[in-house]
Amino acid sequence: MFSNDAINEKNINTSKLLHSAWQNLTTSVILLNQDLIVIYANESAKELFALGEKRFIGQEFHALFSHHTIDISRIYSHTLEQGIDCHQHRADVVFVDSRHAKIALSSRLITNDNQALALIEFRRLDEEIKHDQASYQMHQHIAARTLIRGLAHEIKNPLGGIRGAAQLLQYETYQSERDECTNLIIEQTDRLTELVDRLLGPNQLLKKTECNIHQTLESVVKLAMLENYNHIKLVKDYDPSIPDITIDEGKMQQVILNIIRNAQQAIHNNEANNIESGSIRIKTRIRHQMRAHNKSMKNALQIQISDNGPGIDQDIIETIFFPMVTNKEGGSGLGLSIAQTLIDQHNGYIDCESWSGHTEFNIYLPLGL
Ligand SMILES: Nc1ncnc2c1ncn2[C@@H]1O[C@H](COP(=O)(O)OP(=O)(O)O)[C@@H](O)[C@H]1O
Ligand SMILES: [Mg+2]
Repeated sequence: MFSNDAINEKNINTSKLLHSAWQNLTTSVILLNQDLIVIYANESAKELFALGEKRFIGQEFHALFSHHTIDISRIYSHTLEQGIDCHQHRADVVFVDSRHAKIALSSRLITNDNQALALIEFRRLDEEIKHDQASYQMHQHIAARTLIRGLAHEIKNPLGGIRGAAQLLQYETYQSERDECTNLIIEQTDRLTELVDRLLGPNQLLKKTECNIHQTLESVVKLAMLENYNHIKLVKDYDPSIPDITIDEGKMQQVILNIIRNAQQAIHNNEANNIESGSIRIKTRIRHQMRAHNKSMKNALQIQISDNGPGIDQDIIETIFFPMVTNKEGGSGLGLSIAQTLIDQHNGYIDCESWSGHTEFNIYLPLGL
């Protein structure tokens, strides 16, 4: 047991320690009182605002900026008055010394001696955004080059055939031989046309009908089971309360079948995987207030297909929805690109998350409830 003195001493040390931890956080943190005046700021905040203690403490919050898009009234009404946490994922600010930054901030109510205080945390986004943009541009560049290489390869083969046939045609006198040449030319030009059509993606109008999504999924599962992947478990986690949805059933089946096949192939080709442990999970849920990719949906149907395969190769993860991005021998790399076009035509969106041992695709479709 500690003696009282020891406990007091321990408390003193703890508060010193906490003070030091607070000052050394890499996150910028400040405390505002109910008048929205800064009463405390850690070192990182002082660096972010480039203000010393004297000019920082006692300052009104809005006066820390010469311009900003922070929703201060929300911090006041939500956090300080109602105790609700607030997050602003992106705000543009210009500090008093004219520096510009993009930041994310969150506020939380804390109380001290019955006094309500808002704890505000800031995170700089510019560095992250720059890094993301650079990485995205690089991946786009690689994907574009791969696409061109793939295309060149696919075009060159039939072109070679057409040229050869035309040369022969010039000198052939027998009709049967001439027919053979013209047939070859027709075949190869058809092959090229088909390639171009595939690249352009689906262009038919959707044939929408009211469907029970679980019946649609069941017929896809049946098709997927026809492939020889019986060692892979298919787990279904359906929300039976989901109402009928208006979709082009055939197209949606095409999208989901490709995602399931990709998962089957990934698990199957993964040598490190214990062959018995592969599983694919199909989950349906109703979601509310979904917003991404410039789309917003009050109510949405979520179809999630996840697998415990090796995960998507890091080299292609940023571009898997691009045409001709594939890591499979003989793969077209068109499945996900077509899927994205089709989901877009349904006014929904699709995204993907993947890490080693886990891949999940989420499709969100507007649901008129
Ligand atoms: N579940 C998954 N696990 C691992 N990689 C995947 C998965 N789904 C898709 N991929 C990757 O995305 C690529 C693109 O898929 P897709 O557009 O369907 O073309 P394809 O199947 O012809 O390669 C695949 O080649 C694969 O590398
Ligand atoms: Mg595929």
